[in-house]
Amino acid sequence: MPVSWSTTLVLGLLTYCACHEEEDECVVGVVGEPVSLPCLYSGPPLDARNFSLEWRRSGGQVLLRAGWEEGQPTGTDTGTGTARLPEAALQNGDFSLELSAVPALRGPQTFHLTLEVGGEEEEEGPPLCTVCLRAVEEEECIVGVVGEPVSLPCFYSGHQLDTLNFSVEWRSGAQLLLRSGWEEGELVDLWQWHTVATNTTRLPEDALQNGDFSLELSAVPPLREPQNFHMSLVVGGGEAPSAPLCTVCLRTEASFTPPSVQRLDPPEANQTTFLCHSVGGRPKPTVHWLINGTWAPPAGSVTTSTLPMVNSSLYNITSRLLADVSAHTTVTCSVESPSLNQILNATSYGVKVSPVASRASDALWVFSGGLCLGVAVLVVAAIIYQVMLDKSHKKLGKTHRGGRESLNHGFGFNRNLL
Ligand SMILES: *[C@@H]1O[C@H](CO)[C@@H](O)[C@H](O)[C@H]1NC(C)=O
Ligand SMILES: *[C@@H]1O[C@H](CO)[C@@H](O)[C@H](O)[C@H]1NC(C)=O
Ligand SMILES: *[C@@H]1O[C@H](CO)[C@@H](O)[C@H](O)[C@H]1NC(C)=O
Ligand SMILES: *[C@@H]1O[C@H](CO)[C@@H](O)[C@H](O)[C@H]1NC(C)=O
Ligand SMILES: *[C@@H]1O[C@H](CO)[C@@H](O)[C@H](O)[C@H]1NC(C)=O
Ligand SMILES: *[C@@H]1O[C@H](CO)[C@@H](O)[C@H](O)[C@H]1NC(C)=O
Ligand SMILES: *[C@@H]1O[C@H](CO)[C@@H](O)[C@H](O)[C@H]1NC(C)=O
Ligand SMILES: *[C@@H]1O[C@H](CO)[C@@H](O)[C@H](O)[C@H]1NC(C)=O
Repeated sequence: MPVSWSTTLVLGLLTYCACHEEEDECVVGVVGEPVSLPCLYSGPPLDARNFSLEWRRSGGQVLLRAGWEEGQPTGTDTGTGTARLPEAALQNGDFSLELSAVPALRGPQTFHLTLEVGGEEEEEGPPLCTVCLRAVEEEECIVGVVGEPVSLPCFYSGHQLDTLNFSVEWRSGAQLLLRSGWEEGELVDLWQWHTVATNTTRLPEDALQNGDFSLELSAVPPLREPQNFHMSLVVGGGEAPSAPLCTVCLRTEASFTPPSVQRLDPPEANQTTFLCHSVGGRPKPTVHWLINGTWAPPAGSVTTSTLPMVNSSLYNITSRLLADVSAHTTVTCSVESPSLNQILNATSYGVKVSPVASRASDALWVFSGGLCLGVAVLVVAAIIYQVMLDKSHKKLGKTHRGGRESLNHGFGFNRNLL
């Protein structure tokens, strides 16, 4: 089957690139943040045996050594103090290396886990796991705000693609997120995986015209750790994808809910407790307190706890301030997320004569005063009316005697009314 020159050229270039993109299979860790280098054991059960394991850096430095005798741990030795194994490692066969802080590494670095079973000096077999770690500075990752859309940039500026049959694939780890196929410039296939984590993924409308194959996520999921997304081109019949054309690292942030502050005045204690609460944000914020809008309480009087929320990488924060302040003191709690450039405040205003209550009594005074005045005006008006009627009655009495009776009836009725 004849293969066109252009196809061969593109394939050749992509394969060439592949040799330089091995690090794309690496776990990505942000310098200074925790990371887990995955290693799962699925061989014959180990809990009745004597064995030890060792995590090493490719240079040879031992990061962690641990042993078990018939299911009982005999000790863990960590060279640097920053590495540990997951809890229940033996029960779950999960021997992942958990580093508390990713070191700044020049280029990708490989780590190996070797198992030594039985205690006898066996000749060294291949490592059980080999994991590559790529350390990135925080600024190297695209920042997505949880729940909001984000675009993971990927531009192709190589060969004219509109004469080829090819497809584009976006993956995260082993998971395929999107595949889109073109035949000589016509879009022929489009698969989009809608997962709870990423919701909808798509490519820009004019991807082929502009060579813009950026992955658009409709809603950023809350990621525990930065995650790599890869885009590969598959040219021709749909064989295994080539090495990624783009690798984009995504890390997530989320805003906290506006805090609430609660004042607790325990009856016996001299100190007042203030509780400040906020949830749903990431990364960890800093919490500040301010008394009467001017001075910060001493450090020892504040305790702040930051806990992960259930099944989420978002945090739940509670800060407690113990202060010896009068009832009229104003206390403010601020939750600050520098990376989102956000400061959220909540204030507890001291106990005061409630302005609402005083306004209500004012209103009552105005109302009753108005009522008195109204009644007084009516009375005066009625009296004046009466006097004037009496006068006109006297005049009438002098001239038309005949109308007297009916007029008197009318006056009587008026008097009863008043
Ligand atoms: C494990 O080691 C202990 C103490 O060294 C020994 O008594 C035991 O027989 C060993 N068990 C196995 C299964 O090798
Ligand atoms: C692309 O695929 C179509 C249909 O399968 C085929 O007719 C055409 O020759 C292909 N073009 C190239 C450049 O391979
Ligand atoms: C994706 O987002 C849309 C709108 O934001 C929402 O209606 C839908 O339920 C979401 N789907 C999933 C699987 O989360
Ligand atoms: C409250 O304050 C007074 C005077 O400052 C002190 O004598 C007393 O022990 C305090 N009580 C408590 C419960 O802290
Ligand atoms: C946050 O933590 C507090 C106290 O630890 C708890 O009462 C509350 O339910 C938590 N809220 C969420 C949303 O996890
Ligand atoms: C958390 O996740 C686990 C496992 O995925 C699930 O069994 C559990 O019900 C979840 N808990 C909540 C509160 O969603
Ligand atoms: C804060 O201000 C109020 C009113 O201005 C005052 O009564 C109170 O004593 C002040 N509190 C502190 C701790 O300075
Ligand atoms: C909270 O207070 C800070 C400083 O007092 C201010 O810069 C910030 O804008 C306030 N935040 C909000 C949401 O009002």
